[in-house]
Amino acid sequence: MTYLKICNIEKSFGKFKVLKDINLELNKGEFICFLGPSGCGKTTLLRIIAGLEKPDSGKIFLGEKEITNLQPSKRNLSMVFQTYALFPNMTVFQNIEYGLKNKIINKNDRKEKIEKVLELVGLLHIKKKYPTEMSEGQQQRVSLARALAMEPNILLLDEPLSALDAKVREKLRLEIKSIHNKLGITTIMVTHDQEEALTMGDRIIVMNDGKIIQVGYPEEIYNEPKDIFVADFIGKVNLIKDKKGKVHAVRPEHIEYSITPNKNSIETTLEDIEFRGAFYRLTLRYGVEELIYVDMLAKEKTKLGINKNIKIYIKLI
Ligand SMILES: Nc1ncnc2c1ncn2[C@@H]1O[C@H](COP(=O)(O)OP(=O)(O)O)[C@@H](O)[C@H]1O
Ligand SMILES: [Mg+2]
Repeated sequence: MTYLKICNIEKSFGKFKVLKDINLELNKGEFICFLGPSGCGKTTLLRIIAGLEKPDSGKIFLGEKEITNLQPSKRNLSMVFQTYALFPNMTVFQNIEYGLKNKIINKNDRKEKIEKVLELVGLLHIKKKYPTEMSEGQQQRVSLARALAMEPNILLLDEPLSALDAKVREKLRLEIKSIHNKLGITTIMVTHDQEEALTMGDRIIVMNDGKIIQVGYPEEIYNEPKDIFVADFIGKVNLIKDKKGKVHAVRPEHIEYSITPNKNSIETTLEDIEFRGAFYRLTLRYGVEELIYVDMLAKEKTKLGINKNIKIYIKLI
C-alpha cells in the first residue's frame, strides 16, 4: 500500500537544477535507502519530504493527504543527521524529553516513553550522562532514540552512520535494522555507501545527478543494474566490449577462469593479487591497456597454485 507518494518534484538552487522530475511511491513499513554519489540531491530530497525545503514544483502525499505545503511540525516526521545535534548542556534523558514536552504533557507518561526508547537503543543505564561523556556511537543512539520517541509517521535518516568508525558503524547498522523490524516504522535512510544500502534497504532508490536512475530490491540493483552507472556504482564491475562494440558489465565473481587455455578463452597475465578476506581479487592484464578484475575464493587460489606472472585464461562473455 502506497504511504508516501512523491510526484514530479523539481528543485533548483539559483540556476542549478538539483532535483529533476522525481517520482516515487513508498509503502508503509518499508526501509528505503536513497543511494547515490555525493552531491546528487539525496539530502535535498529528504529535506523536501521533511518540509525543511520547498520544492519549485510537484506534490507530496502522505497517505491520502497532500503535505506539499504543510509546516514541518505538522507532518510528524523525525530526522536524524550525520552529526548528532544533541544539546551539550542536557543529559541523555533531557535531550529526549525536550522534543516530547509539547507532545506528552503528563510527566510520568513522558518518563515512561523516554525509558522505553532508551531501552530500545540499549542506553537506559546512562540516561543521566551528558553528550561529552559518551562515545560517538552512543551519541548517535541518543539521536535515534530522540527521533523514535516522537513516534513519527516516517523516520528520516541522513547518513546517520557516516561519521562513525567501521566497527561501530556495522554494529549500529544491525541495531537500526532490528529496531525497524520491531517497530515497523517507515524509514528512509540516505547513504552514499553501497554496502550499507545493500545490507539495510528493503528497496533501494539509486540517484545520480538529480534524477532517480533505478528503484529496486537490493538483489535486483546488484544483479540487474539498469545501466553502466548503477553497475559501476554498486560493487566492482568490468566493462567489456564485445565484437559488435556493445559494452557489457560483468562482476568480478562472474568471470570464468582457468590456468589452461580452452575454447573461446583469452590469455591474460596476472598483475596483482589483493587479499579481501573471504576472497582474493586478481588484476589481470590483456592486450596493452585492458585490465580485468576477477574474484577467486581462497581455496581455488591454493588449488590452482596462483602466483605472480602466471598466465590465466578467462572467458569474457
Ligand atoms: N541550500 C543550498 N544552496 C545552494 N546549493 C545547495 C543547497 N543545498 C544543496 N545544494 C547543492 O545541491 C546539490 C545537491 O546537494 P545534496 O542534496 O546535499 O546532495 P547529497 O545529499 O546527495 O550529497 C549539491 O551540488 C549542493 O551543493
Ligand atoms: Mg547529503
